[in-house]
Amino acid sequence: METQTTTTTQVQNDTFPINGTDHLEFYVGNAKQAALYYQHCFGYELIAYKGPETGSRDVVSYVLKQDKIRLVLTSTLMEDHEIARHVAKHGDGVKVLALWVDNAVDAYEKAMAKGAESAFEPYTIEDEFGTVKLAAIKTYGETIHTLVERSSYSGAFMPGYMAKKSEKPVTPIGLKFVDHCVGNVELGDMNKWVKFYQEVLGFKLLITFDDKDISTKYTALMSKVVSNGNGYIKFPINEPANGIKKSQIEEYLDFYKSAGVQHIAVATDNIIETVSALRNNGVEFLYVPETYYVDLMERIGDIDEDLEDLKKLNILVDRDDEGYLLQIFTKPVQDRPTVFYEIIQRKGAVSFGKGNFKALFEAIEREQALRGTL
Ligand code: FE2
Repeated sequence: METQTTTTTQVQNDTFPINGTDHLEFYVGNAKQAALYYQHCFGYELIAYKGPETGSRDVVSYVLKQDKIRLVLTSTLMEDHEIARHVAKHGDGVKVLALWVDNAVDAYEKAMAKGAESAFEPYTIEDEFGTVKLAAIKTYGETIHTLVERSSYSGAFMPGYMAKKSEKPVTPIGLKFVDHCVGNVELGDMNKWVKFYQEVLGFKLLITFDDKDISTKYTALMSKVVSNGNGYIKFPINEPANGIKKSQIEEYLDFYKSAGVQHIAVATDNIIETVSALRNNGVEFLYVPETYYVDLMERIGDIDEDLEDLKKLNILVDRDDEGYLLQIFTKPVQDRPTVFYEIIQRKGAVSFGKGNFKALFEAIEREQALRGTL
């Protein structure tokens, strides 16, 4: 398979208008503790809550916010509940990639007409702050896309939630918005899901990486990136490729027990400050050896940042035709080696750090070896 790299073109007739990411919802074993982790390690502020105190007898959710990013952390209080089963099977993980639309019913019906599978039918919720309409379709694994219409809503998050603030002041660390969300799918399924996004949601294929782009001596993967009309939603879809040893995608699938969200890339305007704060707060990152930095300046050319700062924080740099980007990857953020975060600062670059793939995947292989899963 040949590599083709194309840059995004704005869609003239957007057949499925999406304003952006509304929120990401995780199903977790203990939402209360996860909420503290995101507040005090990642600098998110608590903005809303639902639970027994608000009349939700079986489900507890904490809603956290930093700039444009909203995370919902949800647990169940019940033994025999879909969330309990989800957590038992997958561990903590992303259940919902919620898309903000102007008309949820219209979006849902359009998606269904194009062959989407329903997760739930449209419904409306109301309180004194206004109205929110929701509907949802299924995507890879047990992940869903909730379609959220909230044009007339002025409350903390949604009807059913009460406003709630962090107990202790939280210091934001400069996370701005979701840059992209990556899905890992089973061998042979990448094209199926790319087609789903193209046909059902009107996305465009942005970039293709084959196993020649993304391989080390031992392992390989393939990836295609799809993006919506306005370019605000970018979903790379990965599948494992044959290698001598088990690829990180297979390891993910073994532990997540299905396709699912692999990483969420969040954007910052100052990666040095953001990563310094994350490291101070105890967040762990993948380690890339010193040799990565030896000829970095020759490879990348002039950049605004100080090489010593990048080296000290282990931040990676890559360049494309449009500019450069800085990025770093956390270790998994739950017990299973599944979901992790990327912190990314784009300085013109529209790509995903292809030049760093090899160094990164070797770093992941070192972690796999420690876990005995390489
Ligand atoms: Fe990424």
